[in-house]
Amino acid sequence: MARRAVRSTPVGMINTFRSVVQFEKLSLDPVERRLRKAASVEDFRRIAKRRLPHGVFDYIDGGAEDERSLARNSTAFANYEFQPRVLRDVSALDTSTTIFGRTVAMPLILAPTGFTRIAHSQGELAVTRAAQRAGVPCSLSTMGTRSIEELAAVSDGDKWFQIYAWRDRGLVEELVDRSKRAGFTAVWLTVDTAVLGRRERDVRRGMTLPPKIGPGTIVDGAIHPGWTWDFLRNEPITFANVVGLSDEDGSTAVNLAEHMARQFDPALSWDDVDWLRSIWDGPIVLKGIQTVDDAKQAVSMGVDGLGLSNHGGRQLDDAPAPIELVEPVRDEVGDAATIICDGGVRRGSDIVKAIALGADAVSMGRPYLYALGAAGERGVDQMLANMREGMERTMALTGRRSVAEIDRSLVRRRRR
Ligand SMILES: Cc1cc2nc3c(=O)[nH]c(=O)nc-3n(C[C@H](O)[C@H](O)[C@H](O)COP(=O)(O)O)c2cc1C
Repeated sequence: MARRAVRSTPVGMINTFRSVVQFEKLSLDPVERRLRKAASVEDFRRIAKRRLPHGVFDYIDGGAEDERSLARNSTAFANYEFQPRVLRDVSALDTSTTIFGRTVAMPLILAPTGFTRIAHSQGELAVTRAAQRAGVPCSLSTMGTRSIEELAAVSDGDKWFQIYAWRDRGLVEELVDRSKRAGFTAVWLTVDTAVLGRRERDVRRGMTLPPKIGPGTIVDGAIHPGWTWDFLRNEPITFANVVGLSDEDGSTAVNLAEHMARQFDPALSWDDVDWLRSIWDGPIVLKGIQTVDDAKQAVSMGVDGLGLSNHGGRQLDDAPAPIELVEPVRDEVGDAATIICDGGVRRGSDIVKAIALGADAVSMGRPYLYALGAAGERGVDQMLANMREGMERTMALTGRRSVAEIDRSLVRRRRR
């Protein structure tokens, strides 16, 4: 009775209210406010969608044709479920491993993405710095918007260079040579881009790189002032690695499909793998392997790494989801090559699944682009921290203390 009386007085009510409600400290920093709302990759995607002009967001987010490969890349992870073990003393967890003999903090590589500065003016510099802080390798695309030398100047962390085979092989040799001199440790040769996939969101918008200014882009820019201000007050975006070497260096707007058709060589073949070996003596990863047969052939030619990838669903629609290739490819090639699963990785638990099925590492593209577009370099830091925590949490909840303990018995195909 007495308790009831205390509660019903105004002071009592205020005390009760105080005991259950704690006001969040207001932050004057808009990036901080966005970061607080970004608990997952999907949150970063949502924030990036709000902040980036529609054409820019669609260039990053979109896939080929009906986008079935794009969707399946991530939903295929749900086809596998854990078989967790308990009571295994998981008080000390270690996510580190080695890739090509070099220690990394977790089995994750940031994949190459062309035109990264379209998400944020710092572009690849921000991504490279964040990768070094997180202890993971990052990759620079042939179509990158910061140069090999600029990346080397901001980070001595592990950096990989991605090669598109230009018709002008002399240009590729020059890029490979520059990568070597700048201390890059591995190269990807992208093999899934004989022609550019039909990305219909870009077709509909008449998307060019950089975006051509017209009435549509002016309106788009005006309703996304944060991005527009960042874009306008920084130096123009170019294909920084080929400036001075190619007449198409991005300084004037190009349609990506037409540009690639002009510059890239559809005659690329297995013979070129030998040519690449003759100009680069470090690890070579073929990026875009999509069958067991091609994995076997690559290994027979002495390739060091297999990038199981469908280019994030941006090339051939209805190409297989890379996570589903990991197990059969590992069974076929054994320990003869490093296997990297690329496409649809959105959580630390996805990394654990890929490792359990037989991958040595995963790589990811859109997650860091969303993070960059949503909150710049700090966004990439937070996304990578989330991945590491997610991997640790999954390891703790499944009874695995190290990457070596993440074995095949940890996952099984889900019964429908
Ligand atoms: C905007 C964008 C640009 C890309 N540019 C390249 C590129 O220049 N070279 C390349 O080999 N792959 C490129 N990719 C593919 C990525 O390297 C990677 O395979 C893909 O993003 C993985 O799928 P995810 O985005 O679901 O993680 C690009 C992907 C995106 C989203």
